[in-house]
Amino acid sequence: MSLILGLETSCDETAAAVVADGLVILSNAVSSQHELHERYGGVVPEIASRAHVERLWPIVNAALDEAGVAARDLDAVAVGNRPGLVGSLIVGTSAAKALAWSLSKPLIGIDHVRAHLYAAALRDNAGDRAAGSAPRYPALGLVVSGGHTALYDIQGPLDMTRLGGTIDDAVGEAYDKAAVILNAGYPGGQMLDRLAQTGDGSGHALPRSMLGRESLDFSFSGLKTALLYAVRGRPTRASRGKKAEFERSIDDLSDRQRADLAAAFQEAVVETLIKKLARAVAQLDADGRRPISVIVGGGVSANSLLRRRVTELGAAEGLAVHLPPLELCVDNAAMIAGLAHARFAAGERDGLSLPVVATTAM
Ligand code: KG4
Ligand code: ZN
Repeated sequence: MSLILGLETSCDETAAAVVADGLVILSNAVSSQHELHERYGGVVPEIASRAHVERLWPIVNAALDEAGVAARDLDAVAVGNRPGLVGSLIVGTSAAKALAWSLSKPLIGIDHVRAHLYAAALRDNAGDRAAGSAPRYPALGLVVSGGHTALYDIQGPLDMTRLGGTIDDAVGEAYDKAAVILNAGYPGGQMLDRLAQTGDGSGHALPRSMLGRESLDFSFSGLKTALLYAVRGRPTRASRGKKAEFERSIDDLSDRQRADLAAAFQEAVVETLIKKLARAVAQLDADGRRPISVIVGGGVSANSLLRRRVTELGAAEGLAVHLPPLELCVDNAAMIAGLAHARFAAGERDGLSLPVVATTAM
C-alpha cells in the first residue's frame, strides 16, 4: 500500500491530490485560475505563479483533509516538475521539496505530459469506475492538451516512446485561438466544443493537414488560418500580420454561421487526430507491435466529438479505449500522484536538487 500526495502547478490550475497504490483517488483538489486570466484571453505567466503561491497550501490542506490522511502517514510527495511555465513549476516544486524535507519523505518528480496518459487508469474512492479500467499494454497513447499534441508507443506507465507530435500549434492551443476567432468565450476549448454541438459543419471545407503519407506528426496552424479567412474573408493586399485588415468582422456573422464554422473546425481537428491514430495502429501492426489499447489524455480529451470518434475507432480496430473522466482530462494532481506510484514502487527517488524544466522532448 502506498499513499502519495501529488502537487500540480504547471500552468493555471493549482492542484493537490492523495492517491493510494497509484490507483484509487482519495482526494483531488483543484483550484482553477480561469477567472484571473479570462480578461487577457490567455494565461499570463506572472499572474499564474503569484496565484499558485497564494492557493497552494490551502489546496494541499484540503487534499489531506478530504483524504483523511495525516501528512506524516504519506509514503512520498510527488510533483509535476516538467514541462510547463517556469514560474508556476517553481512554486509547486519548491513546496514539494519543503514538504518532503520537513516530513523526511521521498520526493518524486513527474513529467506532466506522461501523467496525462496515466489519468485514465485512476478510479475514485467510491469505486464508481470499474476496477478493471486500468489500461493494458502495449498501448497507443495520444496526448492532446493546451501545450502538447503527441502520439506514444506505451509499453508501461514509465516506458513510452514518442512516435510523433505537432510541428506548430498544440491542438488545445488551436482550439483556444479558434475560440477567439469565433468569439466563442473563455475557456476557449470547452466553449468552442459547446458551440460546435449546435452547428452543422458540412457546408465548409476546412483543410486537414496530414503532412505526407507516413507522417505521425501534426500541424494545426493552417487550419487556424483557414478558419480565420472563412470568418473574416481575405486580408486586404496592403495589410499583413497583426495589423491585417479583413473584408468583414465576426459581428457580421449570424449565430448559426458561427456555430456551423465551429462544427467544421471541430470536425477537421477530430478527423485529423483519428486518422493519425489509425495510421499509428497500422504502422505498429506492420512492425509486429500492434497495441491492444488506446489511451487518450490532456484537456482536449474532454472534447465531445473526440471521445465519440475514439470510441468508434476502438470498436472498429478491436482496441480497448481508455478515456479519463472529464474531471481528470484537465490538469489535476491525481494523475501526478498516480504515476508517481510507479516510480515509487520501482525504487526511484529524486533529490532536493530536482530541477524544473520548461520544455521537454516528451
Ligand atoms: O491539459 P490541459 O488542462 O492543460 C495543459 O496541459 O495544456 O489542457 C488545456 C487545453 C486548453 O487548450 C483547452 O482549450 C482544451 O484543453 N480543452 C478543450 C476542451 N476542454 C478543454 N478543447 C476542446 N474541447 C474541449 N471540450
Ligand atoms: Zn496538462
